[in-house]
Amino acid sequence: MTRLHNELSLDAYWMPFTANRAFKADPGTRYRADDGREVLDGISGLWCCNAGHGHPRIVEAIANQVAELDYATAFQVGHPKVFALAERLADMAPENIDAVFFTNSGSESVDTALKIALVYHHARGESERTRFVGRERGYHGAGFGGTSVGGIGNNRKHFGPLLPGVLHLPQTYDHEHQAFSRGQPEWGAHLADELERIVAVNHASTIAAVIVEPFAGSAGVLLERLREITAKHGILLIFDEVITAFGRLGAGFAAERFGVVPDLITIAKGLTSGAVPMGAVLARGEIRKTIIDAAPDAIELFHGYTYSGHPVSAAAAHAALDVYRDEGLFERSRTLEPVLEDALHGLRDKPHVRDIRNLGLVGAVELEPRPGEPTARATEVFGRAFDRGILVRTTADIIALAPPLIVAEDEIATLAAVLGDVLDGLD
Ligand SMILES: Cc1ncc(COP(=O)(O)O)c(C=O)c1O
Repeated sequence: MTRLHNELSLDAYWMPFTANRAFKADPGTRYRADDGREVLDGISGLWCCNAGHGHPRIVEAIANQVAELDYATAFQVGHPKVFALAERLADMAPENIDAVFFTNSGSESVDTALKIALVYHHARGESERTRFVGRERGYHGAGFGGTSVGGIGNNRKHFGPLLPGVLHLPQTYDHEHQAFSRGQPEWGAHLADELERIVAVNHASTIAAVIVEPFAGSAGVLLERLREITAKHGILLIFDEVITAFGRLGAGFAAERFGVVPDLITIAKGLTSGAVPMGAVLARGEIRKTIIDAAPDAIELFHGYTYSGHPVSAAAAHAALDVYRDEGLFERSRTLEPVLEDALHGLRDKPHVRDIRNLGLVGAVELEPRPGEPTARATEVFGRAFDRGILVRTTADIIALAPPLIVAEDEIATLAAVLGDVLDGLD
């Protein structure tokens, strides 16, 4: 049995998206923070703690809510905070997006949005629209719906045929044309035109929705083009804003930053600043109205979760939105964007660096993989960086940084400096 110095057993806990064997074989380094050493969070928990950790207003809101009303079902009854939260989100969201369906995670939000798309087309008498279009390398959570529209082979390979009829647009990253781009790369908008080919081959009348993270590649122009093509063919456009909403790109939503309005937006993570789980789907009011008007049953949408609109999550979300507003964190994120950009691009000449890219308060340093050992180099960076007091995130040989929006400029400098030192010492 694996035990830590403090007698904590590691055996029963099956860690998600983790190299369990490696973690449990060498738990010491991962738990040094247990010894009181501070670790600077370079990834906002997991892209979620936008207001940092332990914000007193969020903590207080959660504590008060548990005491006041710990749980109420969302089926057939509702509590005031969840109605008020839906109003707030509708007010924040782009024009015409004013219906809010609550979930508990990004994955649930994605699966919910896909289901809403199917029900909407059915309500309009177009039940044959059942195909979804995702994108290579896209990540849309771990549900069967999100795994199906996602485009990462390792996440899909053992899960059978998944949802039928899903197609994928090409990925928008191209090293040759985009390496070391600052902000949105110029190249890549034409990749949206691939949707026209998919529509031509499959016929528009079979396609329910296109889902993308409004982030990758030359986001602005690419999203505009996707919007034009989907609108022309009656296909719904879903922006998966699980990471990008709530200030990560210096605005409430990526849709706002890029001036492109989709039909549905999925959110989670920053909605409560990660303090308790909550997600939501924001939909164009017309979508909900169509579904409600066409419903033959008293219940119009046969979908929902035990913890949809949980009072504690709703209270946390109100507090997080208050903090974002009162501390001007979306604006702050926009101000810090060039600071992070300069700090990261300063690592360009470090060993093994293949590319550096950034947008909003997100940056990535991509390393050349070690021959025959993909991911090993970045995994080593993760461990060494943690030992040096910074938490980063790695996927494949990419090191991602997305600090909380409250991060100080000197902390950004520290993140880059430590990363640079770690890279200097790497084989
Ligand atoms: C774009 C996107 N969609 C969906 C998800 C899934 O969210 P969750 O892990 O809360 O289910 C994530 C998680 O990182 C994400 O980045």
